Amino acid sequence: MSKTAALAYSGGLDTSCAIAWLKEGYGFDEVLAVLVDVGQDADFEPAIGRGYAAGADEVVLVDRKQEFGEEQVAKAVLANALYEGRYPLISALSRPVIAAAVAELALAAGAEAVVHGCTGKGNDQLRFELAFKAHYPGVRVIAPLRDRVWTRDEEIAYARERGIPVEAKPASPYSIDDNLFGRAIEAGILEDPWVEPPEEAFALTAAPADAPAPADVVVGFESGLPVALDGEPLPLHELVAELNARAGAYGIGRIDMIENRAIGIKSRELYEAPAALTLIAAHQALEDVVLTKAELVAKRELEPKWAKLVYDGLWFSPAREAYDAFFAATQRLVTGEARVSLQAGAPVVTGRRSEHALYAETLASYGAGETFPHDAAEGFITIAALEVELAAARERSAALA
Ligand code: ARG
Repeated sequence: MSKTAALAYSGGLDTSCAIAWLKEGYGFDEVLAVLVDVGQDADFEPAIGRGYAAGADEVVLVDRKQEFGEEQVAKAVLANALYEGRYPLISALSRPVIAAAVAELALAAGAEAVVHGCTGKGNDQLRFELAFKAHYPGVRVIAPLRDRVWTRDEEIAYARERGIPVEAKPASPYSIDDNLFGRAIEAGILEDPWVEPPEEAFALTAAPADAPAPADVVVGFESGLPVALDGEPLPLHELVAELNARAGAYGIGRIDMIENRAIGIKSRELYEAPAALTLIAAHQALEDVVLTKAELVAKRELEPKWAKLVYDGLWFSPAREAYDAFFAATQRLVTGEARVSLQAGAPVVTGRRSEHALYAETLASYGAGETFPHDAAEGFITIAALEVELAAARERSAALA
């Protein structure tokens, strides 16, 4: 019986070489290369050609943009997810989608191994492997670039020898990963954390210094999900693309951070996530007027935990589902709008409204017509102060004794 491997294929040099190496080095008879469209800026046609040239028996292009928008991106917005307070999980969100597509096709084809092109130093190996195993329990997982460390020159030589076309344009000096939710840039000169990011590293955002005059965008939400821009209804993946363009022109969503990888290495990453940061700011602002104080306290406490869980590769896990069940329960009434002023480098929320707002002007106001029960405040403070007063009295008598 022929032995088949299903590979998460990106079209790049690493995974192209992996196709040939799976046959040569691992003895597979057939390689199924799965290319998943999650909104990355890629030329799929040459990528498919390269896959066949490398010896793939089949290269399948799977479009998962819409699902990625409706599932991972939607849940990340509901969770206001920012890893270590800053990174909107761009790559961490796409890996489960890609891996699930590969595992499903592997199962359907009766492939006995699933393969990814990650090295041993990153987070992505975790995300791929956990998601592979969640969809194809017991499957053999192979990581050719972790089993053997290749230099770029070795890969180029290997590809040339086997007639795998190597891209003519000079390779980017950075390692890039992108999808519809944003772009991650690392390596090259950026490895020195003191080096200022050069303008050429960015593709989705203009320099904040070149931002046009501030402009407003009104984001409409329904049960926590962004559904419209300036009153125009859009499916989430299109809304994100549109907002990336609009907010990107202001340099919004540029992030330069040192992050802690799951495997214990610190790394310097640049991100571009104009829509992600704008949507999270708008969503939080709407939650602020709709949710009760206790819901907000609980939710804001869980949000960074969700982000860490997903960063660490646990998308397909009962824990993530349980967090999401809680988040979903809080979102029923989070319907309304937030107005964001797009300004140089920052999305500034300037208004929020919802027919379900708990915010009551008559209670908050210092003006006439207010309804706050002033005399009740006195009793409330008498009780609230009890312990402080007792403790202070205890200190005094201890000092006198
Ligand atoms: N550090 C980010 C993460 O683990 C991005 C990884 C991919 N980055 C890249 N520039 N290739 O989610």
